[in-house]
Amino acid sequence: MSEQDYRKNSHDYWDAIYQRSGNTTESVKTDDWLDLFAEVIAQAKEPVLDLGCGGGNNTKYLLGKGKQVIACDQSEKAIEDIQNNFPQITEAKCFNMLDGLPFADASFTVVIADLCLHYFTEKDTDFLLGEIARILKPGGHLMFRVNSMNDVNHGAGEGIEIEPHVYETKNGTLKRFFVEEDIKRLFGRFAIEYCQEEIMSRYTLEKRLFRVCVKKM
Ligand SMILES: C[S@@+](CC[C@H](N)C(=O)[O-])C[C@H]1O[C@@H](n2cnc3c(N)ncnc32)[C@H](O)[C@@H]1O
Repeated sequence: MSEQDYRKNSHDYWDAIYQRSGNTTESVKTDDWLDLFAEVIAQAKEPVLDLGCGGGNNTKYLLGKGKQVIACDQSEKAIEDIQNNFPQITEAKCFNMLDGLPFADASFTVVIADLCLHYFTEKDTDFLLGEIARILKPGGHLMFRVNSMNDVNHGAGEGIEIEPHVYETKNGTLKRFFVEEDIKRLFGRFAIEYCQEEIMSRYTLEKRLFRVCVKKM
């Protein structure tokens, strides 16, 4: 399958999910993974960027903490729902992260990327992390969670392995499952301040993931 196929399939897959979900302000679930980084988040004077915001779990959490938020996703439906459900948001933008991030250099002190950095090849992940580093201020933080290679409830190791730990799924999308070495290698341009494998229980089946906070040096 070509890179363009993976991109289209990913867009269509997620847009269909949000078309079906009927998210409302109340139905969007939050969890407390960002509490650990509360002091860093509290210091952000400008809006926090929520990349791959989806239904807005983290947008809702951040708004609840009194933060300004810019939310982004590739899905038009996700962005439409965010605008309707969270009208107090600073901005909601629809774009594909692989086209680059449409923000000026050094715009943010905090970027959140929850469960959205594990869909890409090595080359695309490296490009995207370069973009995140570009839009962060020096000393700024990226907080994210990614699939663990132990996430067997959510397809770890299933499909065609097109690169180490990157699989083509039966939906024709890509999914990466990380081991700690992958995080150290791919995020080597940042200082890794926190990296822990853990279990998330926001989904019906437990999900194994890495919770990570890195700092732009
Ligand atoms: C598992 S959902 C996570 C949603 C939300 N962050 C959360 O934790 O609930 C992954 C999200 O990443 C978005 N995404 C995946 N690839 C993307 C890309 N190339 N550009 C923009 N958004 C993308 C999807 O559309 C989807 O909304």
